[in-house]
Amino acid sequence: MTDRIETITTPAAMAARAAELARRGVRVGFVPTMGALHDGHLELVRTARAKNDVALVSIFVNPLQFGPNEDFTRYPRDLDGDLAKLATVGCDAVFTTDAASMYPRGFATYVVNDALTDRFEGAVRPGHFRGVLTVVAKLFHLVRPTVAYFGQKDAQQALLIRRMVADLDFPLQVSVQPTVREPDGLARSSRNVFLSQEGRTRGLALSRGLKAAAARYAAGERSAAALIATARGELEATAGVGVDYVALVHADTLEDVRQADARALMWVAARVDGVRLLDNALLSAPTEAAW
Ligand code: PAJ
Repeated sequence: MTDRIETITTPAAMAARAAELARRGVRVGFVPTMGALHDGHLELVRTARAKNDVALVSIFVNPLQFGPNEDFTRYPRDLDGDLAKLATVGCDAVFTTDAASMYPRGFATYVVNDALTDRFEGAVRPGHFRGVLTVVAKLFHLVRPTVAYFGQKDAQQALLIRRMVADLDFPLQVSVQPTVREPDGLARSSRNVFLSQEGRTRGLALSRGLKAAAARYAAGERSAAALIATARGELEATAGVGVDYVALVHADTLEDVRQADARALMWVAARVDGVRLLDNALLSAPTEAAW
């Protein structure tokens, strides 16, 4: 089945293909990924395919967004498996290339956001978002998408990419889609494969915490301190979960709020089995995307 997917392996070939699609006026739905695809990614591809003429996926484990002590070398890679999965969801083309082609000798220009990167993942992972924005800017130039699709699970990343597209006048739309979860609530992530059976069960504390806070919000609680304590309580009651942060912020600015309203987004990050797990939800609409 995989032979139906066109595989493009150099930036020059990608740029040439994008130019040809643009000349023909083809609507391109683009899903950037780092591979090890799961249903969260595949749902983005299904949406890209349904709303555009062509669905194009990039698979590139971007060294620039990993810190020196992070899991770049052990990040899961499975190109054949990924292509087989993509063939089942109507993906038309895959762009996958190597680090030397994306960052040739002499590469020295980066995209940075000065405002939104000092908190949450940006604080825990210095330089991470510089790596993300730089590679996504390059991918946008190479692929020239009509619409690019991102997941709410990485909410700070999605917000930063929106900001970059607006600030730097990229001629495309950004669409953010709801987090896809396992039936028991665990947010799908390529890193879930690193969890032991027990760790997987412990990891459920994140979605349980969000659910508990959303239930209190639905019951009328609006105090940020009380809502945070509710979520934190679920995490701290679970042995083997190391809480990195629990916060309640305004979805559009990531500023802390004292009183929750319809735009209040709860964020949690925790370590389980040495794996960092992230989750977030709008307390007023926990199953919907915030943007
Ligand atoms: P990656 O972690 O592979 O994720 C690719 C896209 O899938 C991101 O937009 C992410 O938010 C989305 N995604 C991951 N898990 C999801 C889930 N459970 N539900 C919905 N969407 C989900 O994010 C990256 O790669 C990289 O930083 C990248 C943007 C490709 C730049 O290198």
